[in-house]
Amino acid sequence: MESVQAIKQRFEIIGNDPKLNRAVEKAIQVAPTDISVLVTGESGVGKESIPKIIHALSHRKHGKYIAVNCGAIPEGTIDSELFGHEKGSFTGATNTREGYFEVADGGTIFLDEVGELPLTTQVRLLRVLENGEFIKVGSSQVQKTNVRIVAATNVNMFDAIEKGKFREDLFYRLSTVDIMLPPLRERKDDIHLLFRKFASDFAHKYKMPAIKLDDSAVEILLKYRWSGNIRQLRNVAEQISVLETKREISSQTLLSYLPMENPNLPSVIGTKKSESDFSNEREILYKVLFDMKSDLNDLKKLTMELMQNGSSKVQEANKGLIQKIYGKPEENAIFEEEPRVEMLPNQNNMIQEEFEDDDDDQNYLFAETVDEEETLSLEAKEIELIKKSLERNKGKRKAAADELGISERTLYRKIKQYDL
Ligand SMILES: Nc1ncnc2c1ncn2[C@@H]1O[C@H](COP(=O)(O)OP(=O)(O)OP(=O)(O)O)[C@@H](O)[C@H]1O
Ligand SMILES: [Mg+2]
Repeated sequence: MESVQAIKQRFEIIGNDPKLNRAVEKAIQVAPTDISVLVTGESGVGKESIPKIIHALSHRKHGKYIAVNCGAIPEGTIDSELFGHEKGSFTGATNTREGYFEVADGGTIFLDEVGELPLTTQVRLLRVLENGEFIKVGSSQVQKTNVRIVAATNVNMFDAIEKGKFREDLFYRLSTVDIMLPPLRERKDDIHLLFRKFASDFAHKYKMPAIKLDDSAVEILLKYRWSGNIRQLRNVAEQISVLETKREISSQTLLSYLPMENPNLPSVIGTKKSESDFSNEREILYKVLFDMKSDLNDLKKLTMELMQNGSSKVQEANKGLIQKIYGKPEENAIFEEEPRVEMLPNQNNMIQEEFEDDDDDQNYLFAETVDEEETLSLEAKEIELIKKSLERNKGKRKAAADELGISERTLYRKIKQYDL
């Protein structure tokens, strides 16, 4: 049996984290069998190399390997893609078509984002898993296939089952062996290693000297949450390699490439028990407090601007409010020494955009809501944050969860809890 190190080298998997090594070892162990495997882990952790290892080390290695992204195929065509269809079975089916399960007979199919499969397709898949049988769309003839299935998901399958979106029997059938890939933030010793590898790759690709992080930048690198995991780390390394003229990278430069996280708040960064509800609650709480602080600061700035430069009409209209928040103009010591608010790298822009979009009426409303600051509960703020993030991400929960720095599971729970 090839060693874990040899396999990592062959599949260009960087890192020495024990959990990563265990995942590779498990893949090597199950490869020669026909056991179905479910690969789990957050987005960007490197799940796609596991089915490749399994296929390459199995007796099916000379057979076909087909990777299917279940989330990317429209619901109306997925059965036909996977199982084929008969000529004339639906409008546009001008020819009989072989599906992946027929084509990959004797090989391996990787079902990526398997949690996205429609329920009707799940029924067909269960049948293949149980006795190797399937039926083409529009046909009545049962066909046989011999395919090894490896599936992957970055969503919590138990949630999907609870919501009736995924069949429990299929889940257990798919996950005879579960291979979990750890998030990057839990692989502290691998982060800088991976960054150096990417820096060197991009130096090669773009024919320039490799970027190098100074000590303070390395510290940030290790503290950051990396919600997009290795994919995000790689993107950051590429952007910096291309856009920065200086090759020695400071923490400040690095920070300007890291969105929506504040590495100075250690609790935002899930160092341990990152999936536990407790740390998720804490994360969202920090974010809420942080956003409130920024909102307040911006409100103060805005009001000050209004008082100094704004039209006298607006000033007059807000006089009472302005005095309530800041006191009478002559007691305005607060303006001299503005509270220092540490901004999240991108937050500055975000807030600016919000104000640019707003018309005066909305700004006025906004000021009013802060008037009731005392009654503005954390919960309401949390709901608002979630709503905004969902809106910004067009309802994509995964993207919203990433942006909020919470797990998708927690987001699901909150959506349910607040009935959003
Ligand atoms: N250990 C690693 N060493 C080097 N590169 C890696 C490693 N793990 C992942 N990568 C790279 O990171 C990127 C993301 O990996 P991959 O596509 O496998 O993520 P994923 O887990 O499938 O994410 P998603 O759930 O979003 O599909 C790829 O470009 C991959 O080559
Ligand atoms: Mg993937």
